Amino acid sequence: MYLFKTIKFKLTLWYVVILGIILCSFSIFLYFTLADSLYKGVDNRIKTMGEIVAASARSPFGADIDQIMIDRYGVRPLGRYIQILDESGKIGGSSTNIRDIKIPLNLSTLKAASKGKTIFETVKVLGRYSLRVVTIPIIENESMTGIIQVGSPLEGVEEALHQLLLLLLIAVPAALLAASTAGLFLANKALRPVDAITQIARRIGSGDLSQRIRIKRVNDELGRLASTFNEMIAKLEESFHRVKRFTADASHELKTPLTILRGEVELGLKKKRALKEYQRILASNLEEISRMSRIVDNLLTLSRADMGQVTMKRKKLELSSLVRDVWEDLRILAEEKKIQMKFLDDGVTQIEGDPLFLRQLILNLTENGLKYTLPGGEVSLKVEGDRDQKVVRILVSDTGVGIAQKDQKRVFDRFFRADKARSRETGGTGLGLSICQWIVQAHEGQIAVQSKVGQGSTFTVTLPLKD
Ligand SMILES: Nc1ncnc2c1ncn2[C@@H]1O[C@H](COP(=O)(O)OP(=O)(O)OP(=O)(O)O)[C@@H](O)[C@H]1O
Ligand SMILES: [Mg+2]
Repeated sequence: MYLFKTIKFKLTLWYVVILGIILCSFSIFLYFTLADSLYKGVDNRIKTMGEIVAASARSPFGADIDQIMIDRYGVRPLGRYIQILDESGKIGGSSTNIRDIKIPLNLSTLKAASKGKTIFETVKVLGRYSLRVVTIPIIENESMTGIIQVGSPLEGVEEALHQLLLLLLIAVPAALLAASTAGLFLANKALRPVDAITQIARRIGSGDLSQRIRIKRVNDELGRLASTFNEMIAKLEESFHRVKRFTADASHELKTPLTILRGEVELGLKKKRALKEYQRILASNLEEISRMSRIVDNLLTLSRADMGQVTMKRKKLELSSLVRDVWEDLRILAEEKKIQMKFLDDGVTQIEGDPLFLRQLILNLTENGLKYTLPGGEVSLKVEGDRDQKVVRILVSDTGVGIAQKDQKRVFDRFFRADKARSRETGGTGLGLSICQWIVQAHEGQIAVQSKVGQGSTFTVTLPLKD
């Protein structure tokens, strides 16, 4: 059965079993303690009574027991049966209420009494009800001269105990039944969110990542589980969307050059053309092909980075000389574009990193600066070591078109380009900064951008300093 396998059932079962053990132990303890104290009470009373009679009766024969009781208690011995016997066990006198009840005196009791012992016994009188009997020897000059027997019916005690037993036999199972019902209800209530989580997980499993668990109590265990679960699904959903968008963007990026290529080739094949015409078409084809190879190269780098397949070959290096190299390499390009290019370096800039990837990082940032700056503008590369904070910073600033506030967060996203038309003209694929970000993160650094539209941008890379 399904129910027997549920946690709520097992919880309730444990709870009821433990409660059952506690209640039973308590009941047994209660019953026996009460029984003991009731019997002791009876024993004490009859013993006292017997001792009084023993002290007052001079001889077993002719002793007026009723009178002794009246003298002592002011009433006749109600509900107690007293008899006095001689040393051989022969009855000498008794309280008048005894009538046809005969308190038995067996041989072993008589023997024990003759040795001076007081004996308590429970006997059946007339086969009906129990009588608690004390047998007390009367000792004179170290020998027994008579015996006093006092009996008290146990009806009251037995009835009380019987009633208690009955009560416990009803109350304990009833309490257990109530506890198990309440326990099942509470366990059910407490574990209901688990069912909700299971259902949502099932729906998510079938592909609907937008599902979330509604949480009422955030602070208990299940609330925390649910919110952790929700966070996990949100992350999954986001990365799922990212992958989808990435695939769509990648296909789109590759489709444009392919369409152009195809158009040009088809046009070229339509009729016979002059050699010059073919050269022009082929040159244009080459441009699209190199664009596609660049995209594919970049995509390959990023996907290998995603899979953790790229290993950085780290070594100690002076960052400023790396930046200077890039500056020197790009100076001619800058001159062609009539952009002034500056290089500033300051102090210690030693870091540990992969020179090839770091070069690509600086190159990407500087190329962007040159790409998005108009003739007459300026691109500056600055390297500064900060011993206090134990970091080295590379600042790539330009006086170019700038990036709008809303786009600043997104420039590191894959395929993001603020102005698609313009960057296509300049050959941009929108992957450069994504690669930069990955390189920086792989070096335990940070990258940030500050920019104002129409005034320029500054990209700051912060890397840990190595002395
Ligand atoms: N220095 C800059 N000034 C203004 N806009 C910039 C600058 N650097 C980046 N951007 C914006 O951020 C976008 C993303 O830059 P990213 O380098 O990732 O791609 P890209 O330069 O377009 O292509 P590529 O993959 O060839 O580098 C650019 O398209 C551009 O709109
Ligand atoms: Mg770029």
